[in-house]
Amino acid sequence: MAGRTRQIHRIVAIALGVFIALHLASHAFAWGGIAAHSAALQAVRLAYRNPAIEPLLLTAVALQVVLGLRLALSRWRSGVSGGWGRLQLASGSILAFFLLAHAGAAVSARWLGGIDTNFYWPAGTLVLAPLKYGFWPYYVLAVSALLIHVACALHFNGFARMPRLLAMAALPVAITIVLPFSGAIFPVELPDDYRTYFANYADIGGELEP
Ligand code: HEM
Repeated sequence: MAGRTRQIHRIVAIALGVFIALHLASHAFAWGGIAAHSAALQAVRLAYRNPAIEPLLLTAVALQVVLGLRLALSRWRSGVSGGWGRLQLASGSILAFFLLAHAGAAVSARWLGGIDTNFYWPAGTLVLAPLKYGFWPYYVLAVSALLIHVACALHFNGFARMPRLLAMAALPVAITIVLPFSGAIFPVELPDDYRTYFANYADIGGELEP
């Protein structure tokens, strides 16, 4: 049973990996400014923002979380051993939580909140206090967990040096990806509709700063 689950988990990981690689690559364009990020996001949206692919993508996200949790449970029952085993379990659990929360938030921001999930959507959570105190670690931990989870998979598939290098690069890469959205590289002026959206978000009313 676990063997079959692992096999499907691996196949879905490869498919989702293509989306995630494009997704994070588009975010790296934020280093070139908001217009550069917007152009990159529009380009990658051509691949998934359509009625045929997007439902498949969201189904793959949900399926991967279920498969991952099943594998984690069976690993937990049979006893986790070694640093890489523990790291795989911890990074996978963080990733599972993030995938559901983040994909769910993106879809509900569009469908229920009525806003475009462009640069300003993650930026709002990374520049406005008190949201940024929670969302900075949330995004950095998620991207780190993703890279560490890939490193663990490489380790268990016989790679020697690569997993260590990838695991060591995880935190710096994550900070690099998140940084431009936070206003640390160039000033980020949130448009009014995003300010209103985040002011209503989590019921924090007029407490948002700056
Ligand atoms: C572990 C890393 C990440 C994964 C696995 C991931 C995954 C996803 C998924 C599955 C979606 C939903 C796609 C859809 O709209 O149907 C999404 C949307 C989005 N994510 Fe991420 N994400 C990650 C990191 C980030 C980071 C670091 C940021 C920015 C700080 C970010 C910003 C966005 C934005 C702006 C959207 C909306 C995209 C659009 O409107 O086309 N994501 N992400």
